[in-house]
Order: sequence, then structure tokens, then C-alpha cells
Amino acid sequence: MLNLSNSLKKHLEKALIKAFPEIAKAAQMAGLSIDPELVPTSRPEFGDFQANIALKLAKSLKTAPRSVAQAIVEELQNDDDFIRLCEPPEIAGPGFINLTIKTINLVEEIKSRLHDPRLGVPSVNKAKSAPIVVDFSSPNIAKEMHVGHLRSTIIGDSIARILEFRGHPVLRINHVGDWGTQFGMLITQLKSVAPKALTTPEVIDLGDLVTFYRQAKERFDQEPAFQATSREEVVKLQRGDPLSIKAWELLCEQSRKEFQKIYSRLDVHITERGESFYNSYLEQVVIDLENSGLLVIDEGAKCVFLEGITGKNGRLLPVIVQKSDGGFNYATTDLAAIRYRFNAAPKGDGACRLIYVTDAGQANHFTGIFQVAKRAKWVPHNARVEHVPFGLVQGEDGKKLKTRSGETVRLRDLLDEAIKRAESDLRRRLNEEGRTEEERFIKNVSTTVGIAAVKYADLSQNRVTNYQFSFDRMLALQGNTAPYLLYAFVRIAGIVRKGGTPDIHTDTFSFETSQEWSLVRQLLKLDEVITEVEEELLPNRLCTYLFELSQIFNRFYDQVPILKANNQAKNSRLALCLLTSNTLKLGLRLLGISTLERM
Ligand code: ARG
Repeated sequence: MLNLSNSLKKHLEKALIKAFPEIAKAAQMAGLSIDPELVPTSRPEFGDFQANIALKLAKSLKTAPRSVAQAIVEELQNDDDFIRLCEPPEIAGPGFINLTIKTINLVEEIKSRLHDPRLGVPSVNKAKSAPIVVDFSSPNIAKEMHVGHLRSTIIGDSIARILEFRGHPVLRINHVGDWGTQFGMLITQLKSVAPKALTTPEVIDLGDLVTFYRQAKERFDQEPAFQATSREEVVKLQRGDPLSIKAWELLCEQSRKEFQKIYSRLDVHITERGESFYNSYLEQVVIDLENSGLLVIDEGAKCVFLEGITGKNGRLLPVIVQKSDGGFNYATTDLAAIRYRFNAAPKGDGACRLIYVTDAGQANHFTGIFQVAKRAKWVPHNARVEHVPFGLVQGEDGKKLKTRSGETVRLRDLLDEAIKRAESDLRRRLNEEGRTEEERFIKNVSTTVGIAAVKYADLSQNRVTNYQFSFDRMLALQGNTAPYLLYAFVRIAGIVRKGGTPDIHTDTFSFETSQEWSLVRQLLKLDEVITEVEEELLPNRLCTYLFELSQIFNRFYDQVPILKANNQAKNSRLALCLLTSNTLKLGLRLLGISTLERM
């Protein structure tokens, strides 16, 4: 109901100026306008929206809030456009103004959405919008992608989808850990145990690469000669020695292939631009910081001391940008990345907003580098840099997710398991219902449901809290789960198959029951929810919305006759079914979840 609430806001602003010209003038002189403080009501019996401004104005006017509200309401009722839009306003409690949109306007909105592929969600002007960088997934080369990276991948993808749908140009960036001292030991190990790999890349795959990493680390810790060679290898790599570069590329390529398998299964598209991309920009970071007077040398290391952030000893914490041995680190690379991302093209992305999706454990890192970037004036006026943190993935015992034998869970095993369980649930249900289906159908449904369940379980939680991973819970047909939503969608597809597509060009939609009106109002909230997620980057709000929509739909479906109703009611109700299914489909797509016609 964004456009309805926007026009309501305008009417309220007009009424405020008329009712309190002095205050309006004073606000205008200060370059402000009076915000009517319009919010959706908490309960349907209060109408659709409530304006809370009377309470605030009453304080500065030193009068009773209800009489302030009364004055505003009187002005509203002199406004013909307002009268066409709303029922007569009601003053409630201490002075809230409750507003109910006339049903005829709701019907008009429903009608226009039936014809609109965007379902009423406005689009920004792409040509005039600067790119938004979403930095997500970002696993580390030669290490396995773990559940934390899975969360980042799923949440980041959904945020990117929502921003893209709103019309923003989005850069989906995979900031993979493809540089650093660990490559010294990896290359040394590669040259020593698999010199052939330098000419035939196919011989190692990531499963092996993880063991490979472990073995390299063991040797590094135990063999002084290995350690020395590894250190030399780092220097060689940094200098661009061809054989070392070749070995490094091999390691990256092998990892990339494994990562890609996961992305393909999850239907996630992302562009790799790893840490190594910023190598040639690192020096400039130090120079810039030096020129802006932020750089301090502390025990040989170049660093910037953070304002207002102290460590345990009560002293200000530093962000180290160059170690005493001259080496750069994770923070330096991230600083170079911020600088690059905000820089205008062609020497940068020219972005207006940077979004980083990582576990909450990196919050201090991001607070630090954001502060440094702002003080170095790399963040343009009006631009935003945001860390989107998420909690840990825990097992059902509340501890870190592990396999029975105590090892870290591999992502491909986790996805396989979800699909396997979805399949056995499906086979059991088919059996109970006496249905037989082709194997192809069974495979397709189980894969879709399994992947959807994993994604939805992750997205539907408020991301900030830790989340308990439970196959049973995420695959349940009841509750706030992917199968519940997918099932609601299937149900509607069934009705539309039986009842035929409604005539959406008719002028005679009529909704009678309270169940229909609840559904109408919920359907019209989609635009608000999407723009809210765009702002606050909490995809769980979209999940809650879709879950509530499915519940309201199921109530309507169970309590109101659809196919057995008279013609006009039947057509109106089928139209609601159609809009509900379009809304579910779009909403799920924005979460990265595909729907099924039958399941
Ligand atoms: N590679 C890092 C990790 O695995 C995540 C990188 C996140 N992005 C960034 N720009 N720092 O923890």
C-alpha cells in the first residue's frame, strides 16, 4: 500500500499546515517539514494506518493531544481527495488518528496488481542509480567452504535479489581469500608432493586440497626446512615468479571448481574478485593514510588508532595496515577494497552502498575499517557502508555444528542429506495417499524441497541470532518452513487448474467476507515489506510476510467457498487466489527459492 500511504502522508501534511500554520512555518524556515508519523496499525480493528503526530505536537503546543488530533481531523475532512481515499478518521486512545482506506480503493489496488508483473513494487531509475556492492560468500582458497560461508551465500544472494528487483545495479562480489602467507606453505607442499600437478591440474580436487592444506600445515609446524622454503616461496609469489604464480593459480582453480559446484546447486551467481585483486592498490592505501595524517608507527607497524574504541587495557585499538616486516594484511586489503569500490569508474566501481555479509565475529574488523575509511574521506557523502552480521550455525545440541564423528560438516553432504530426507518424506506421503509418480517427478520435487528447506530455515531466522540447524524442523510441512509455503503455492495452483483463470479485466470484483478482506490487505503489503528489507537488510521480514500470507490464504481457503460460489464471487475469489500465488512466487524467488506446480 505504499502509494496509498504516500498519498495519505501528503493529505496529512496539508492538514497539518492548515491546522497549525505557525508551527508549519517555523519548521519550513528550519528547512524541515512536519512528519505526520504515519505507521501501519498493529491491529486490523484500528484501521489500516495510524498517525501519531498529535502526541508530539501537543507537547510543544502544551495542549491536549486529543484536541490537536481533532484539529487535524477537521482539516482532513475538508479535503475532497482525502474523503475519496479514506473513511472518516477516528481518534483513539491518547490522540492517535486511525485511518481506514475505503474498500473501493483497495479493490482498485488489487485490480492494478493483477495486471502488474511487479505486483505494485516500485522500481528505482536504474540509469540514474549508482551500483550497490554486495560482498558475500567469500570462502578461502584451499580450505573447505563451511556452514558460515553457506549462511553468507544464502543471505547475501537474497539481499542481492531484492536490491536487483528494486532496480538497483548490483555487483555481487566474491571476496575470496586467495592471497596471504599460507600460500607459501601450500606452494611448497605442491612442489614437493605433486610436482606433476604443475602440468596436469586434474590430479587434485578440493576434497584432497583440504587434506593437502592440513598436511602442509603439519609440515610447516614441524619441519624447519619446510618452513624456511615456505617463507621464501611467499616472497617469490609476491615478486611474480612464474612457477610460483602457476602453482598459486592451480590451487585457486581447483578451489574455484569445488565452490562452483555449490553455487550451481544453490542457483547463486557471483563474480569472483578475490583479495589478490587489490594487491596493486595496497601501497596507495598506506600513502593516502599517511597524507591524511592518520598513520602512526607503533612498534615498527604502520597503523591507525581508532577513535572511541579501546581494548582491554583501556588504550585505543589500532588497525594495522602494514606490519613491521612490510607485509599487508586482511584489513589493508579491505581498506583497498572500500577505496576501490567507492572510486569512480574506470578506476573503481563508483558504488553508493557497500554491504558485507559475514559472521558476527568479524564485527570489530568492519567497525574498524569503516571508521578508517570514513576518516580518510574515501566514503562519499550520502554513501553507505554496512556490515550485515549473522550468528553461528549450531547443531541441535546448541553446540557448533559437527558430524556424529565430530568433524566439520561438509556443505555438499549437508545439501545431499536435506534432499535425501525430503525424498523419503515425499515417498512416505505418496504411499499414504496411494499416489504413484514418476522417478523424475520424485527427484525434482525432493531436490527443490531439500534446497528450499535449507535456504528458508536460514533466511527465516533473524540473522543476528545464532541458529540451530535441524533437518526435521526445516522439512516439516507445518510451521514457518519452506515446505509449508511451497505447499500453499501448490494448493492454489490446484484451484486455478480446476476453476480456470479468472477474468481480471472485469469491473465487478467484490469481496464479501472478512477472510477475503484480510487477504486483500495482506496482499497489498508486499511493496512495504520489500522496501523495508531493502533498507534494513533483514530477509526474515519477507519470510514472515510470506508465512502470514500463506496462513491467511489457508484460512480463506478452508472457510470460504471458492469454486462453489456464485459467478461474480467465484471470479473475485479466484482473482485473489491468482494474486496470492503470484505474490508467493515472487517472494520466494527473491529468497532464491523456486516453486513447484505439484508436490
Ligand atoms: N574470507 C573471509 C572469511 O572466510 C570473508 C571475507 C568477507 N569479505 C570481506 N570483504 N572481508 O572469513
